[in-house]
Amino acid sequence: LASIEVNVAALEPGMSLTVKWRGKPVFIRNRTPEEVQAANAVALTELKDPAARNANLPADAQASGIDRSGGQGKENWIVMIGSCTHLGCVPLGQSGEYNGWFCPCHGSVYDTAGRIRKGPAPENLPIPAFKFTSDTVIQIG
Ligand code: FES
Repeated sequence: LASIEVNVAALEPGMSLTVKWRGKPVFIRNRTPEEVQAANAVALTELKDPAARNANLPADAQASGIDRSGGQGKENWIVMIGSCTHLGCVPLGQSGEYNGWFCPCHGSVYDTAGRIRKGPAPENLPIPAFKFTSDTVIQIG
């Protein structure tokens, strides 16, 4: 399937869902206001990978909190491919030093915007093409 639709109506803030898309796990998280704030408070200069890696934005977009999210009005939403950019393990959610994602294979630590902050992974978790087709349905791909 080229694209899938996911109903996220049941995801309250702080809840996540993992779906399969093109054989890969895709993490969908409704971030809490605290998680959004924690991501937005980080200066781009602190980031190991300052690129947004967001398929919905130009390639030179930067990894700001908003450009790693569902965008204006949907900043609480994170949609990203759950494959560690080191060697492809599936990171664990709501863990690690930044309370984002933690890869148990070799210890890469991602923040609440899925940006690599520590460990061997070189890049932020990639954001696939996606859009909201309604307030509660996300189309991926
Ligand atoms: Fe994730 Fe190596 S595969 S840290």
